[in-house]
Amino acid sequence: MIVRGVEGGDWPGMALLAATCFGLWHPPDARQMWQSLVAPGCAVVACDGSDVVGTAVALDLEVTVPGGAVLPMAGVSWVAVSPTHRRRGVLRAMFAELHTRMGRFPIAGLEASEAGIYGRFGYGRATEAHRLTVERGSARFHESVADPGGVRLAHAAEHREQLEEIFERWRRQTPGGLHSPRQLWDEVLTDRPEARDGGSALFCLLHPDGFALYRVHGGERKDRIEITKFTAVTADAHVALWRTLLGMDLMDSVSVHTHPGEALPYLLTDPRLVRTTGVDDGLWLRLIDVPAALRARTYAADVSVVLDISDAVLGGGGRFALEVRDGRARCVPTTADVDVHTDLSVLGSLYFGAHRASAFATAGRLRCANPRLVAALDAAFASDVPAQLGFGF
Ligand SMILES: CC(C)(COP(=O)(O)OP(=O)(O)OC[C@H]1O[C@@H](n2cnc3c(N)ncnc32)[C@H](O)[C@@H]1OP(=O)(O)O)[C@@H](O)C(=O)NCCC(=O)NCCS
Repeated sequence: MIVRGVEGGDWPGMALLAATCFGLWHPPDARQMWQSLVAPGCAVVACDGSDVVGTAVALDLEVTVPGGAVLPMAGVSWVAVSPTHRRRGVLRAMFAELHTRMGRFPIAGLEASEAGIYGRFGYGRATEAHRLTVERGSARFHESVADPGGVRLAHAAEHREQLEEIFERWRRQTPGGLHSPRQLWDEVLTDRPEARDGGSALFCLLHPDGFALYRVHGGERKDRIEITKFTAVTADAHVALWRTLLGMDLMDSVSVHTHPGEALPYLLTDPRLVRTTGVDDGLWLRLIDVPAALRARTYAADVSVVLDISDAVLGGGGRFALEVRDGRARCVPTTADVDVHTDLSVLGSLYFGAHRASAFATAGRLRCANPRLVAALDAAFASDVPAQLGFGF
């Protein structure tokens, strides 16, 4: 078996392998859309003779970090090893090769099919997604909640420019927001029947500062709304969209994937009607260039610390002095005495502020003799804008 860069003739074998591993055939043009986003040189295969038995690629993406800076991000995707060749180190060998090729990116991200796979490769859960479901029949808005209006019923494909413009504003202010290339909008708005998961064609609610795309699932008088994309740039847009969604008399429930701080329960007289019906990790992050990534974000409090970051499998990390003053960081390699020992996956989890250093300290995965320093890390890495994954890849 050999691991090498992808050549033109490999793509059909890669498509067959991915379809088999994920149990899903992508239409050829959807596949080509993802293929067009692969960063040059950042696709590898494992081959047994002429058969492709493993694939892993990195897409050329951009991610927003706390404070609004945008970093190039290698979006790791199409990770699959044939069931005929599993648990023999194929993924490990492909990741070693792929990460060598991804060196120009300061940060890498992925979505994990299973949560046990990627921690060893220095990836940590960096966003948290909650699925909320509202039984809308008895939902009433609190009397002090505004009713700003401004929502229109729209055909999504006819309002592409407005959707793109609103999403662009949203992603630039949201940690985890991703630049959304034109090919991806083409794919969303094509609204393929095989991508509807048993639901209706897309519906669109449009506000000057937000939109909701959703599908209706279910049968007669047992209908539920599944929101596929809820994007609100202002508080008015957020309230106006929720008022419209909960005003759908013939729908039983409305479900959305959002961040843990979603304000919906605060809008209603009975917040218990908003149930958390699922919790998931969205984006996993690996800091490739630790100083560059730590300097790029802003911080909520001062801290001064020497971090020793291990990365046993892929050999990243190192020892760094991090000095945060007035929201900005200096971060340089150092040989000074270490305050905090942890691994790269933990740093990935802290980076967007979605997880706290103190939780990892309690778990024994971040070791620090000074509890005040752990509290200072909690305060510094907090983000006032909750992190969210921009879109699935
Ligand atoms: C996940 C997958 C890519 C692993 O490939 P593989 O070649 O069997 O993995 P390797 O043999 O290189 O394993 C590397 C390490 O990961 C561990 N590992 C592999 N798959 C794992 C899983 N599903 N859960 C937890 N650990 C896993 C191995 O035990 C090994 O651990 P070690 O470093 O302690 O020895 C493969 O099982 C697969 O294609 N699954 C279906 C598609 C999928 O889920 N892809 C990932 C999309 S995000």
